[in-house]
Amino acid sequence: AQNSNSVSRKNSMGVNFSNDNELKALAEAVNAKSGPWTAGPLVAGAQGDGPTVQVTNPSDRRQVVGSYVSADAALVDKALANAVAAQQDWDRLPAASRAAILEHAAELLEARRGEFIALCVREAGKSLPDSIAEIREAADFLRYYAAMARRLFGHPEQLPGPTGESNQLFLNGRGAFVCISPWNFPLAIFLGQISAALAAGNSVIAKPAEQTSLIGHAAVKLLHEAGVPANVLQYLPGDGAVVGAALTKDPRVAGVAFTGSTETAWAINRALAARNAPIAALIAETGGQNAMIADSSALPEQIVKDVIASAFQSAGQRCSAARVLFVQEDIADKVIGMLAGAMAELKVGDPGQLSTDVGPVIDDDALKILDDHAARMDKEAKKIAEAKLDSAATSNGTFFAPRAYEIPSLDILKREVFGPVLHVIRWKGSDLPKVIDAINATGYGLTLGVHSRIDDTVEYIRSHARVGNCYVNRNQIGAVVGVQPFGGESLSGTGPKAGGPHYLLRFAGERTLTINT
Ligand code: NAD
Ligand code: ALA
Repeated sequence: AQNSNSVSRKNSMGVNFSNDNELKALAEAVNAKSGPWTAGPLVAGAQGDGPTVQVTNPSDRRQVVGSYVSADAALVDKALANAVAAQQDWDRLPAASRAAILEHAAELLEARRGEFIALCVREAGKSLPDSIAEIREAADFLRYYAAMARRLFGHPEQLPGPTGESNQLFLNGRGAFVCISPWNFPLAIFLGQISAALAAGNSVIAKPAEQTSLIGHAAVKLLHEAGVPANVLQYLPGDGAVVGAALTKDPRVAGVAFTGSTETAWAINRALAARNAPIAALIAETGGQNAMIADSSALPEQIVKDVIASAFQSAGQRCSAARVLFVQEDIADKVIGMLAGAMAELKVGDPGQLSTDVGPVIDDDALKILDDHAARMDKEAKKIAEAKLDSAATSNGTFFAPRAYEIPSLDILKREVFGPVLHVIRWKGSDLPKVIDAINATGYGLTLGVHSRIDDTVEYIRSHARVGNCYVNRNQIGAVVGVQPFGGESLSGTGPKAGGPHYLLRFAGERTLTINT
């Protein structure tokens, strides 16, 4: 059954891993192009002249995946001029026309998923299942926001009024939107932000993460091919502190959709506020210090299975990933023992192999932060387990062995640790309120996992934990578009939730028309 916030639409299909023919066809499509890929700014009527950056494979830095030309300051100016000039015509198109273009893009993306999967594996170091899921989520965003645009923007809302007066509420695009995205969902979040902004009638300048500029370039070309005009969607790869900062301080920008770290969200918020310009909309989706709480009514096997997926899938490089497991004292030894056993079985290595559980981390900077954190934990905490690194498979890449530590309290964790490190804290049966207070006190509020068979416990947690997405008796990653609208609160973001019924509204302005008939 559909409620009033649902839209009629099907989520994208994945791959049947037990079907050999399907797997063979997928492998052929993924291997059809091995690069090198080239990319650069896509700005109507101008060429990029910034530095060229070489892209190497995170799982083997000797492999060159491609290169891209960065944008420079002159290009930022030209792109903004184009975006402002093009926006109103795009906004005046019927919403159904914009939606049809986005739906066509979803079809093209699925038809060409082989190349996009290859890019996700080779440029972003994502595992094959994660890369397949990435294409599906991107297609889902395109279709969901298309359907939402039809519903919300297709016709004005009739409002009540006295006899002889007609009142209508219209939604419109805000202007030139800047979409700034992270590397960990280089296609899904990248296209999610862009498609929402376009669906609502905005022109868009897309600034990808430095680490995944080849994927972003291929995605923007695909949207152009689907029918988005070149000056309505432009592409500016480059350094965040240069290109991102130049964009967000410009008075012509009407809104920013940002996903990334909390620190960068603060910088963007400051840049927007410092402008002597119309007040811009900011949608910021940021980091988390996500916990899973397990009580003694839960099944230890289920807890371990779900915490392994939540903490280590995608090499822990998900904003939703579990960083801290609160396990009730009575079952703690059993769960910790099983966790160590399960971690000994994790296969760390080539993300292109289906047998791999954990691929590389994104780059040397990420590895250094994780190594530093592990060195501190080795001194201040008790190590539970460290997965094995097979040096033949990992020595030329940026790999980090998944680890788990037992820690006395959350105070020891200063900030989000973005990688495969789990921290375990024991709690006593009567301490649930203190556990929730400690989680709320981090200031983050993104995901929370709960393992409990006690309804009152689940209800207590639900009504006291300040988090955006709470998952009970399952893992806490992999929100599905239109099913688990995703996003946090406080230090974790501004909302509204991506893939949810209210998202497009933040990209829109509202105008009323009153006619005395
Ligand atoms: P990041 O903040 O370093 O970079 C994100 C983007 O911001 C990049 O495109 C970067 O170039 C740009 N940028 C950097 N400095 C800028 C500036 N001064 N002005 C404008 N743009 C600038 O984040 P990251 O390392 O790419 O991604 C990992 C982070 O993203 C983690 O904190 C993770 O939790 C978060 N994340 C959140 C969500 C969510 O939905 N809440 C989803 C995925 C990732
Ligand atoms: N939406 C992504 C997840 O739920 C971040 O894991």
